[in-house]
Amino acid sequence: MAYRRPIVAGNWKLNGSRQSSRALAVAIVDGLAGIDLGPARLGGESPPLEVLLCPPFVYLAELADLLAVSQLRLGAQDVAAEDVGAFTGEVAAAMLREVGCRYVITGHSERRALFGDTDEKVAGKVLAALRAGLSPILCVGETRSERDAGHTLTVVRRQLDVVLAALDSGRVSASERRLISVAYEPVWAIGTGLSPTPAEAQAVHADIRATVGRRDATMAFDLRVLYGGSVKASNAKDLFAMQDIDGGLIGGAALLAGEFVSICKAAAS
Ligand code: 13P
Repeated sequence: MAYRRPIVAGNWKLNGSRQSSRALAVAIVDGLAGIDLGPARLGGESPPLEVLLCPPFVYLAELADLLAVSQLRLGAQDVAAEDVGAFTGEVAAAMLREVGCRYVITGHSERRALFGDTDEKVAGKVLAALRAGLSPILCVGETRSERDAGHTLTVVRRQLDVVLAALDSGRVSASERRLISVAYEPVWAIGTGLSPTPAEAQAVHADIRATVGRRDATMAFDLRVLYGGSVKASNAKDLFAMQDIDGGLIGGAALLAGEFVSICKAAAS
């Protein structure tokens, strides 16, 4: 993990209120006060970690103001594939950027399973994020039955390949590709307390890097591949010690300031 600067992202999903979101963000900022989370430095040693919070859409603008005095960054949980028009209920990438987001989660398994996000739709969302200068976090991962059938790598490669092909056909530049991260989130590990062993997760992460590398070796080398699915303070360090695990996408534990801060510290050390 040492070469690539890790990211720890808190995905708050559909939780909290205006007041509790503010309180959680303040507690996390306070808990991370001693850690340098500033921008990467050219020609010098960069700070050890990037941390971002992904609250529900309606709290983004308010948390952007609150986080402006900190070094934490803000991400959204989803984005429209379209830039503008008659798409009731959607939020465009440029709008997210305008209110202070730097990141956006795309293709989360809950969006794929519950809201009809196909691989092609997810690819459209990644491209839309890049058009607005946002950093997409592309989620991939297999279900329990896919895993049991031995199809983990086939599923993850397919999910990646559709996006990689869209990057090629959209002639996405090398500098834009550097904005992309991948999150490996086995669906069976999300919110269940179950997780792969660090070695099992590492094997999938290495395959993700190899899959990207078959199309674009430079992108693969720099790509940050986060792990998500029942990450807690107690298992974070062992996961983050793996060579191809470059941080985490955290759900339940991101709603508990103490847990989330401990996970961040595990990634920073
Ligand atoms: P949990 O950490 O609650 O398992 O959720 C993971 C996740 O879905 C993050 O996006």
